[in-house]
Amino acid sequence: MSAPRGEFSSRFGFLMAASGSAVGLGNIWGFPTNAASNGGAAFLFTYLFLAFALAYPALMAELIIGRHAKANAVTALRSLARGPRTAALGTAVGMAGMVTVSLILSFYAIVSGWMLAFLVASVADIMRLPSVSAWLTTTGVVRDVIFTAIFIVLTIFVVSAGVRHGIEKWATRLMPSLLIILVLLIGYVMTLNGAMEGLRVYLVPDFGRVADTGLLLSALGQAFFSLSLGVGTMLIYGSYISKHENLPALGGMVTLLDIGIAVIAGLLILPAMYVALAGGIEIYNDDGGLIAGPGLIIAVLPAMFAQMGEAGILVALAFFLLMTIASLTSSISMLEVPVSYCIENHNIARLKAGTLIGVVVGLVSLLIVYNFDVLFSLVVSATTEYSQPLLGFFFAVFVGWIWHRDGVLAEIRQGCPDADNGLFWRIWPFYIRFICPLAILAVYGQMLFG
Ligand code: TRP
Repeated sequence: MSAPRGEFSSRFGFLMAASGSAVGLGNIWGFPTNAASNGGAAFLFTYLFLAFALAYPALMAELIIGRHAKANAVTALRSLARGPRTAALGTAVGMAGMVTVSLILSFYAIVSGWMLAFLVASVADIMRLPSVSAWLTTTGVVRDVIFTAIFIVLTIFVVSAGVRHGIEKWATRLMPSLLIILVLLIGYVMTLNGAMEGLRVYLVPDFGRVADTGLLLSALGQAFFSLSLGVGTMLIYGSYISKHENLPALGGMVTLLDIGIAVIAGLLILPAMYVALAGGIEIYNDDGGLIAGPGLIIAVLPAMFAQMGEAGILVALAFFLLMTIASLTSSISMLEVPVSYCIENHNIARLKAGTLIGVVVGLVSLLIVYNFDVLFSLVVSATTEYSQPLLGFFFAVFVGWIWHRDGVLAEIRQGCPDADNGLFWRIWPFYIRFICPLAILAVYGQMLFG
């Protein structure tokens, strides 16, 4: 085998890396508008409940498997197998996770490239280079190719430096910066005309909306994407946690950080949207819902920044820096999944593995950029709506049905010696055996037939 495995140097390092993975574009352009359109604070409570009832147990499954095996997903799942069939299933799930997460990275890098392009555009604005800025903010294949490539190179750069000196080091620098930028931006936007209306739309609860089952299921899907579940990301980060750490507590903190930052992002996004509205900018789509996703980030908000004059340039700079940081700490967690496999199972050096896989992912991104209208949404839905929940189902099956219960408990007791008397051990095994698989199947059924 190759060089000794990496390990996070501290609890803080793991928390920053894992919450960096979880906090991404989804938290900023998905959660806030979804909450505002679907019952405000009532949605928030429902989401909080669902995340803790269903996504947290699934997160724990990955963390526990990872730390137990201290290996990549393929090796880890195979190590739990009871015979040749479950071993083959382990290989299949691990491999499918790697393919899925690489495809997620290939579209994520394109969108992150836009964030980077807008970030550079605001620097161009500061330097009084309006034509450069206009080029950077106008949709174009050349721009997309260049910035996707830069973003992938950044991702390779961090991952190649290793677990402690790359992933942990950058996550512990970037995540606190993200929080500071977010808080500063909120403070500023709150002073603007229209912000209070946005706050009201975001927070005033409408309990009538949250009983809708379709909504519950979509919230569950969102929680899965937001916690980076199902593809082995959390498994590999779990494998870098020391045996002295209390896993149920760490997983709980990651879940709270992810939801907390999504909620805080809403305090920026909704007020900003209503400031835009007060300035005459369209913030609703054709169906009457709030514009979300890329349209929100690269159309609605830039239009608002432009109206703010000089101050708007700095606000745009801070905002796109925030988005770029959120993207990068997520993309490194995606690349680490196949990279760790190549290092451990094929003895390839980290730099070489990172570069190789980064280049392949970049080529897929190119394919998507050149066939954007056909491929983009196809890849997004194939990976995040179909593949991710299905693989999450198998992770739950591995822990709930294939791995021996004593083995699971023994792993949790490392770092949490009286786990068998705790609340976690009383509830979680049942959840991961029955509730999680059934809930995932329900989401699936609803998507296929509903
Ligand atoms: N959770 C991140 C977000 O909210 C994205 C992400 C990172 C992810 N790693 C992942 C999504 C693995 C799915 C699988 O944007």
